[in-house]
Amino acid sequence: MGFFSKDIKTLDDLFVHTLRDIYYAEKQIEKALPKMIDKATDPQLKAGFEKHLDQTRGHVERVEQVFELHGVKAKEVNCPAIDGILEEADDVSGDVDDKEVLDAALIASAQAVEHYEMTRYGTLIAWAKQLGRTDCANVLAKNLKEEQATDRKLTEMAESKINLQAAE
Ligand SMILES: [Fe+2]
Ligand SMILES: [Fe+2]
Repeated sequence: MGFFSKDIKTLDDLFVHTLRDIYYAEKQIEKALPKMIDKATDPQLKAGFEKHLDQTRGHVERVEQVFELHGVKAKEVNCPAIDGILEEADDVSGDVDDKEVLDAALIASAQAVEHYEMTRYGTLIAWAKQLGRTDCANVLAKNLKEEQATDRKLTEMAESKINLQAAE
C-alpha cells in the first residue's frame, strides 16, 4: 500500500495506516539496535542503547495493544523513511574508524531514529484524540514519552562527553 493509496479514505484509515507504519518501524529498530550496541564503545552509550532496546520491545507490544483497542488487525506496512534512516546509520558507522568519532556518529543516527518516532507518535496521538480514541492516545503517549526521554539523554551524553572525546 503506497502513501497515496486509494485505500485511505478517512482519517480513521489514515490513523490505521500510520499505526502500521510505526509498527513496521519499531520492529526494524528492534532489529537494528543490537548492531548499534555492538558498535558503541562508551559504556554509558552502550547501556543506553541496551535500555532502549528493552523499551523498544515494549513499544511493539503497546502498538499491538492499540491495534486491539481499535479493533483492527496488527499488520505492518513498509516504511521507506525508517529504512532510509537505518541504512544511512549503517553506512556512516561503517565508514568511521576512530572509536570516539564512531560513538558521536551512532548518537546522531539514534537521534534521527528517535525524531522519526516522535513525529509519528505525535501525529497518531493527535488523530486518536480527534477520532475520540483517548484510550489509544494514552497508550501511544507512553511510547512518545520514552522516545523523548531517550532523545534528551542522547543529547546530554553527546554534549557532556561524547562530542568532546570525538573532538580530541
Ligand atoms: Fe520506539
Ligand atoms: Fe526509540
